[in-house]
Amino acid sequence: MLRNGPDAFGWATILLHWAIALLIAGLLVLGYVMTRPDIDPVLQFDLFQWHKSFGFTALGLCIIRVLWWLANRHPAAVAGLSVRERRASFIVHILLLCLTLSVPVTGWALASTSTLDIPSFYFNLVVIPPLPLAKSAVAEALWTTAHAVLAYGLAGLVLLHAAAALHHHFIRRDAVLVRMLHNRWRDG
Ligand code: HEM
Ligand code: HEM
Repeated sequence: MLRNGPDAFGWATILLHWAIALLIAGLLVLGYVMTRPDIDPVLQFDLFQWHKSFGFTALGLCIIRVLWWLANRHPAAVAGLSVRERRASFIVHILLLCLTLSVPVTGWALASTSTLDIPSFYFNLVVIPPLPLAKSAVAEALWTTAHAVLAYGLAGLVLLHAAAALHHHFIRRDAVLVRMLHNRWRDG
């Protein structure tokens, strides 16, 4: 089934979840590596362009993901979770959805306000226009800080989220992780 069911995630949610997780993990590593001060400038330029292209891809998928999340029912929580745990996981999921949108948007804003005025090529196919923001060194520095803080905040939250999923799978041995891997799981 494509759509979510009463107690299971549909294929669209599962595929979007793992595609976005993979992209974001790669972008976090790439973002960190390309901003090291001792990196070769030619390599750095190429890595920035790859980062922007994959970053725009992540933004597109995350917009679809949020619309899909809003348009779909949310499967009931796995049996055995306390009210507190349900609330905590709901808050973390909302925060993850917000950060997966705000991190690429702040990246786009920093590229748009840069006084270097380097166009953002999407995989060398088309130029993505800048956001309508005034270019200045101050604005660029501000958006760069916002992008880095939100990106590393997202990294921390993803680690927490993944640790919780692994805890459910290996320690509590419930269906939390399995039902995000495929939708033919059986509870208990
Ligand atoms: C979910 C998507 C994204 C993630 C997870 C991400 C993550 C990161 C990280 C971790 C850094 C390094 C921060 C630092 O240590 O200073 C970075 C830097 C950067 N990102 Fe992203 N990014 C994303 C999307 C984008 C997008 C869409 C753009 C532009 C269109 C972009 C443009 C940049 C630029 C230009 C830098 C270098 C900033 C500098 O000059 O220090 N990013 N990103
Ligand atoms: C960038 C990385 C990730 C992001 C942005 C992310 C985001 C999300 C979001 C927004 C949900 C809520 C789904 C919904 O209600 O429709 C979710 C659910 C879930 N995620 Fe992730 N995730 C990431 C990585 C991971 C990783 C690495 C794991 C496992 C090791 C994982 C395991 C799960 C599981 C098991 C659920 C289902 C929880 C439930 O049944 O309510 N996620 N994730």
